Amino acid sequence: EKGGYDTFMEKEIHDQPHAVRDTLIGRTDARGDLALDELHIDEDELRAVTKIVIVACGTASYAGMVAKYAIEHWTRIPVEVELAHEFRYRDPVIDEHTLVVSISQSGETMDTLMAVRHAKELGAMTVSICNTHGSTIPRESDAVLYTHAGPEIAVASTKAFLAQITASYILGLYLAALRGTSYGQAAAEIMAELQAIPDKIEALLGTMDRVKEIAYYMADSRAVLFLGRHVGYPVAMEGALKLKELAYIHAEGFAAGELKHGPIALIEPGQPVFVIVPSPSSEHGLHGKVVSNIQEIRARGARTLVIAEEGDEDVVPFADVVIRVPRTSPLLAPLLTVVPLQVFALQLSTAKGLDVDQPRNLAKSVTVE
Ligand code: F6R
Repeated sequence: EKGGYDTFMEKEIHDQPHAVRDTLIGRTDARGDLALDELHIDEDELRAVTKIVIVACGTASYAGMVAKYAIEHWTRIPVEVELAHEFRYRDPVIDEHTLVVSISQSGETMDTLMAVRHAKELGAMTVSICNTHGSTIPRESDAVLYTHAGPEIAVASTKAFLAQITASYILGLYLAALRGTSYGQAAAEIMAELQAIPDKIEALLGTMDRVKEIAYYMADSRAVLFLGRHVGYPVAMEGALKLKELAYIHAEGFAAGELKHGPIALIEPGQPVFVIVPSPSSEHGLHGKVVSNIQEIRARGARTLVIAEEGDEDVVPFADVVIRVPRTSPLLAPLLTVVPLQVFALQLSTAKGLDVDQPRNLAKSVTVE
């Protein structure tokens, strides 16, 4: 059942090309236009949406943060992302023109379910992005967009995360098309880039030997930091969460721009720092800014483990290790950049002799508050 792999997590990491491919299937019509009949929400109601609020926990909330960058860019609808357990006890400003999108692999997470109920009471429309057919959250939501990652057994989420990002992109492009934004009109092009992602993940998974090697010699690390910017920021937090959960190592993800506002004080000689570098084709010169961050922390002795696009040579002088990912458009990059971080956490856990699939103190679905 582990398909020849030692652990479910390893199998599920290798299932990721399928998870993304299967989540893309059936979401376009014969003309290649996005067709989400499965949503069963009136198109006029969706056109009238004035705000989107994404609620989720843990890894699913990081998928939501990635989605925010893309959905706002493509649709021009403001998007907020909130941890479900915080949202449910607030008095959020929500009305019938708010679309509350929950993201959950299991569909049974109590905090997320309660957030959905809270949103419904306040009159919002609710859409569930979920991996488990017939589970409670989609049943209680107005509409559902299933991810097709297949069953995820390992406690730590991997393929569901990629499928959640993919599904939220589909939803974003669909809304953009409904509202007639320029990105909505170009949705077919962005979909084509998404369709190319599974092969790129496959190729990337074939190059993970170096990552496995560094995980083994980092098994004694006391703390590991992760820096990212733009869509790389939630990826940094996801990389840190995977390492906490699986290897019980203190790990933090930071927005790279925040470094000088505090976290740079943590940098001392030998401190390992993963840096997720934006594509050189990113807007606003973000690539150069993150390269400068690498330079700054390297000057203070950090050991820099740099995740950068193929062909990005600017990072080389300041990187102790360069991990290459295939090129894609900047907003889609998380579907690739997170993969080495998953493999790193898996291997480090293995190197420490820990239970990869069942980390201590954790349950696969958190059905209690
Ligand atoms: C992390 C992880 C958790 C879940 C979170 C939400 O690896 O698995 O953080 O992402 O508990 O679970 P779902 O998606 O089932 O609502």
